[in-house]
Amino acid sequence: MNPARVREGARVLLERAGIRPRLHVVLGSGLGGVAACVEDPVEVRFGELPGFPATSVEGHAGSFLLGRIGGVPVLVQSGRFHYYEGVGSDVVGAPVRVGRALGARKLVLTNAVGGIRRDLVPGSLMLVDDHINLMFRAPLAGPVADGETRFPDMSRPYDPALMAAAESVALRAGVALPRGTYGAVAGPNFETPAEVRALRAAGADVVGMSTVPEVTVARAGGQRVLAFSLVTNQAAGLGDGVVDHEGVMAYAEEAGGTLGGLLEVLIPALEGTGAK
Ligand code: HPA
Repeated sequence: MNPARVREGARVLLERAGIRPRLHVVLGSGLGGVAACVEDPVEVRFGELPGFPATSVEGHAGSFLLGRIGGVPVLVQSGRFHYYEGVGSDVVGAPVRVGRALGARKLVLTNAVGGIRRDLVPGSLMLVDDHINLMFRAPLAGPVADGETRFPDMSRPYDPALMAAAESVALRAGVALPRGTYGAVAGPNFETPAEVRALRAAGADVVGMSTVPEVTVARAGGQRVLAFSLVTNQAAGLGDGVVDHEGVMAYAEEAGGTLGGLLEVLIPALEGTGAK
């Protein structure tokens, strides 16, 4: 997707909603319920933006909502593009670039994951504090996009002040929010038990199929990033059952409410963390 398409996408959203979001939230599998807390939402489906495909994944609405959460102008994205849909980095990274073109300086990502670390059982939330890209794709390969740097520093991909704010909101709400490392794989198949052992040995606490390309694009463009993982299953070989999309979705819908409640409080709080 060329830069003109990103600018055009931003223009369409601005024209439809008349809002310049300060913050962009991406909701993963089954977490679309979080969108219910957006005030006066204007919805625009992915397919309505020129050059944007409609997402093909069940459980992903594939739309943008522009509105406010606790008075803060936000862009809430339900669903995202994944490499496993057969699209390239340009498409996977496009929504982040559109959010940035609209003015979002912060990006909050959510995702569903398989738990690898023993304490990360189904229903747990985790604050992502680092990641390992095992997707075998380079999200920034190709021409440098508008407003991005060629060789972004990734020594602090997740923003320390935003993480601290998230932890304090979780603490006050009585929600456990341990930190951990996200291991990203391309999917769409779930892992083998041997792959999960390899991920654990590499230092991953959870495994998922998204988020890392978006974080990489966001950091290249200087956005501040925060990410939450919702553990929907034990990773392959760690539990006694099989891993399937229906189970992932059922859990995400059930436990997604806790995450939605946190975001509703957190988003207005983040505006007080000193970032523009
Ligand atoms: N593996 C990869 N992605 C996932 C999983 C998993 O076990 N659960 C939810 N998303």
